[in-house]
Amino acid sequence: MRRQVVVPRRVRVRESSSPEECLLLLRKSLRSPTMDTGSKFEGSVPHIFVTLGASGDLARKKIYPTLWWLYRDNLLPSMTVFYGYARTKCTVSELREKCHQYMKVKPGEEEKYEEFWKLNHYVAGAYNSRRDFELLNQELMKVEKNVGANRLFYLALPPSVFEEVTVVIRETCMGEHRGWNRIIIEKPFGRDADSSARLSNHLSNLFKEDQIYRIDHYLGKEMVQNLMTLRFGNRIFSPTWNRECIASVLISFKEPFGTQGRGGYFDQFGIIRDVMQNHLLQILCLVAMEKPPSIHPDDIRSEKVKVLKCIPELELEDVVLGQYIGDEKGEGEAKLGYLDDPTVPNGSTTPTYALSVLKINSERWDGVPFILRCGKALNERKAEVRIQYRDVPGDIFNGKTKRNELVIRVQPGEAVYVKMMTKTPGMSFEMEETELDLTYGSRYRDVKMPDAYERLLLDVFCGSQMHFVRSDELSEAWRIFTPLLHKIEKDKPKPILYKYGSRGPKEGDEMCWRNNFLYYGSYKWVEPKM
Ligand code: BG6
Repeated sequence: MRRQVVVPRRVRVRESSSPEECLLLLRKSLRSPTMDTGSKFEGSVPHIFVTLGASGDLARKKIYPTLWWLYRDNLLPSMTVFYGYARTKCTVSELREKCHQYMKVKPGEEEKYEEFWKLNHYVAGAYNSRRDFELLNQELMKVEKNVGANRLFYLALPPSVFEEVTVVIRETCMGEHRGWNRIIIEKPFGRDADSSARLSNHLSNLFKEDQIYRIDHYLGKEMVQNLMTLRFGNRIFSPTWNRECIASVLISFKEPFGTQGRGGYFDQFGIIRDVMQNHLLQILCLVAMEKPPSIHPDDIRSEKVKVLKCIPELELEDVVLGQYIGDEKGEGEAKLGYLDDPTVPNGSTTPTYALSVLKINSERWDGVPFILRCGKALNERKAEVRIQYRDVPGDIFNGKTKRNELVIRVQPGEAVYVKMMTKTPGMSFEMEETELDLTYGSRYRDVKMPDAYERLLLDVFCGSQMHFVRSDELSEAWRIFTPLLHKIEKDKPKPILYKYGSRGPKEGDEMCWRNNFLYYGSYKWVEPKM
């Protein structure tokens, strides 16, 4: 029987509300779907969400749509208003125009959508002007009307203006008003260990760690969040979660498209900084860490740091680097290679594919390769964790058994399945590969799966830092990758060319074999019919 949750009549988002309190808040909001759209904030603390860089790509494609979905679903505190700030002079209706195609407004939601935009304001100003930020603050104060408000600042800004903006925000917008202030930032968090440490230092001089929310949006994905429950909520997995039973772990990210005109930006970073050092490494931490003493965000993050500390720095021999070329038989973008993107510098050797083998020097994982693989312009869109078990000892089946795998499919189509051997059903005494399958699309048909950003922005309102990166995690992550990145930049090793739409360089598959990850090619997971 389901346990009944008693919802107190007034639950408010407070600084450092626990996840349970946030849940109560969510449920309460779902039960009372009316929003106060007036400017008088009586009875509860108002919240002001400020998007800096409001006219840019990230804001328009991700932040505004996320705010709208949270608002539409009554998940935000009842008195929340939204401010956009950017250099471009524009009105709220122009901003609305720019965002509209990403907002996915469904029939019947039009009225609510109007309400949402009525809660929006826009202030134009320079990023280095104290005066302009003072004006922004005055605007915010007007809305707060002496009641005070909690303020959230989302920095959807290029790294070049990051430092000056944070200084002026701290000085002009976080002083006199009553309420808490939180700041949300996106990668890149520096380019290497030194630049990242400088940035962390800069931020820690301005804000307390519990005010800083470093987004790695993979931490907002359903199956990444599920790793904790799968591992620590199931007795069946824990006794085998170690070097005795596990042969290797493969964490992959594949995208079926190239840089799509974003090559100029991408070229300064490359796939290791873009995906591997953050998204894949975060997943590795959740797979490999020890059980935390509690689910308190800092207990979890401390365990993640510990596992990172056990990983030696990567060397060039531990990686395979690739770059895609066009497929003359392909269509549209597929005909073009990375170097054909006009925004990519001629002759660039920046990798668009990388595979690295990490070692974790701990009692649990010694000798188990953790393979991180990511690439653009590959054959499919997929992100998954594949835990491959060792061969069955004392074989009695003439070598016919294939290894078990526990697969956690992050996207597309969330699923957890165990690849296993079974007797071929019927009269036969043969055996075959099959799976125990938990495919979310068929098991949880009516559940709406929120977007990663929806969960993460809501967490910021709730004050839960569980799914955000702490500064010591970040510095350990950079320690592991910086020597390799510097070596690549200095020696410019030629990446292996692979065709747009292929599995990537065959050297990647060979590296997997050499590291005890066996790919038989005999089995393909088939999505169950709904
Ligand atoms: C971003 C990278 O962090 O993640 C992009 O900068 C990548 O290059 C994206 O495409 C992938 O995110 P998702 O959620 O679509 O898998």
